[in-house]
Amino acid sequence: MEQVTGRAGHMGGGGGGDGRTGVWLVGARGSVATTVIAGCAAVAAGLHPPTGMVTETAPFEGVPLPPPASLVFGGHDTASYPLLKRAEELASGGVLPYGLPHAVRAELAAADAAIRPGGPLPGDERGDTELVTAFTADLRAFARGHRLDRVVVVNVASTEPAAGSEDADEHLPPSCLYAHAALRAGCSYVNFTPSTGMHHPLLQQMAVCSGLPYAGRDGKTGQTLLRSVLAPMFAQRALPVRAWSGTNLLGGGDGATLADPGAAAAKNAGKARVLADTLGAVPPGEVHIDNVSALGDWKTAWDHVAFEGFLGNRMILQTVWQGCDSALAAPLVLDLARLMAAAHAAGLAGPITPLGFYFKDPDGGPAALADQYAGLLAFADDLRGRR
Ligand SMILES: NC(=O)c1ccc[n+]([C@@H]2O[C@H](COP(=O)([O-])OP(=O)(O)OC[C@H]3O[C@@H](n4cnc5c(N)ncnc54)[C@H](O)[C@@H]3O)[C@@H](O)[C@H]2O)c1
Repeated sequence: MEQVTGRAGHMGGGGGGDGRTGVWLVGARGSVATTVIAGCAAVAAGLHPPTGMVTETAPFEGVPLPPPASLVFGGHDTASYPLLKRAEELASGGVLPYGLPHAVRAELAAADAAIRPGGPLPGDERGDTELVTAFTADLRAFARGHRLDRVVVVNVASTEPAAGSEDADEHLPPSCLYAHAALRAGCSYVNFTPSTGMHHPLLQQMAVCSGLPYAGRDGKTGQTLLRSVLAPMFAQRALPVRAWSGTNLLGGGDGATLADPGAAAAKNAGKARVLADTLGAVPPGEVHIDNVSALGDWKTAWDHVAFEGFLGNRMILQTVWQGCDSALAAPLVLDLARLMAAAHAAGLAGPITPLGFYFKDPDGGPAALADQYAGLLAFADDLRGRR
């Protein structure tokens, strides 16, 4: 394995929460990224309310967050189809409202122009170091070209196989190369996927020395969101959970990726962790992910919880969650980009634990959603106080 090298540096530009913020999406032509870019433009233009954006609710008033209209988008992708075409596909699948891609075509075109080829591409002969150097140069050019004060790199690329799985090879996973480039270019970093990203041992020391903030992993949008609410309920009501099983049916690019057992293993690790952290141990039961391409971006997540009541009485809770994955994820990505930009502007460094509210597999902090929300509000107060 080639060792990645390089020194972390900071982007120039003014401090404070009012500077121009870039959002660099790794996986910029995917469903989540396209929904983020089109959705941000729709909200900024007042075409749609910011439903699902926690940062647009009353407790965040006065927090120095970059407004949605000020965010500048760019990114990397290994695919090359036009963003407008991707948005039209999402609209014809009912993910984006009919007519939205046309209404925000200028914003989609601007983001499209700022997307650079990612890597490794098929047949790519570049080694890890060359890829990191290329990604870093792209990030620096984006910041310079758009006169940005800071850039938040957000990983929304396809889920990689879990480390140690058969599909992992001797190279660093691409998510680590992008995370390394973010550090070298002086960018904050958010990992919205279960991929390794900043969690690789080779990057940990560099991350600590960089003085940059980062957060992850894997956006909590559906089944795990419910688990982080329901599992504390069982614990608090002293109702032992005997088994917790789940099945997910989903299509789209994410469904196709998660048909690979290695990628599914990475995803399921985060889903199990919330149960371990809230119940004290993972109860018996498995989580399955089935790719049903006919569902497109819609996901059905079924949970079956066997629990015990007074005098050994045996009972069952079943939940069915039917959601549009990208519509659930996009407002969270926008929240995270804004909060991370504010954390960076405030000079915060290292893992931003209060952002655990958004993740399946957070960097420490409580596991129950209510406690995570309280932590997020305290973080908002802290950012407001630093203004
Ligand atoms: N939608 C949700 O609710 C949700 C929740 C949590 C996490 N996620 C994660 O978000 C990610 C994106 O989901 P999606 O539905 O947009 O998937 P998608 O398949 O539609 O998009 C992924 C994009 O990543 C690109 N890509 C793949 N390898 C790359 C590389 N090496 N460099 C740059 N780009 C690369 C692909 O070309 C594609 O455009 C997935 O990892 C998913 O697990 C989604």
